[in-house]
Amino acid sequence: MKTIIVMFIALLGISLQADVENGKKQYLANCAICHTVNGGSAFGKDFNIVSYTRKKEDIKAYIKDPYSNFERFGYSANAMPTLPLKEKDIDDITDYIDSLQPFKVWMKK
Ligand code: HEC
Repeated sequence: MKTIIVMFIALLGISLQADVENGKKQYLANCAICHTVNGGSAFGKDFNIVSYTRKKEDIKAYIKDPYSNFERFGYSANAMPTLPLKEKDIDDITDYIDSLQPFKVWMKK
């Protein structure tokens, strides 16, 4: 029984890791031209800062539909396109961004 539980936890770990890995791949393919990770300057915000300051569900909502969210996020205009991504890839990119910064500012509010 113990072995089964250990194997289950190990598999769960691998599958979570795989999602973040895919999220990183999707980020590089779809977002990296406009967003950096861990510094640098680009058109959109660095994802490390996004990870710090935004809730996971808000990050996902923005990726899905920037136009409906830009005012709520404090922007006066929307320049980010709505990208034709699969639901699974949006989830994985969200997991990837969320994983960049475990200590979230919004939790202190
Ligand atoms: C063509 C450039 C461009 C691409 C490609 C792009 N973004 Fe953006 N993104 C922006 C800009 C510019 C903003 C600022 C708000 C706006 O204009 O909508 C933004 C804002 C955001 C925000 C809100 C940031 C915040 O905390 O205020 C998130 C989250 C985000 N982008 C995620 C993504 C993800 C994930 C991808 C890839 C799937 C992506 N973006 C692709 C340009 C881009």
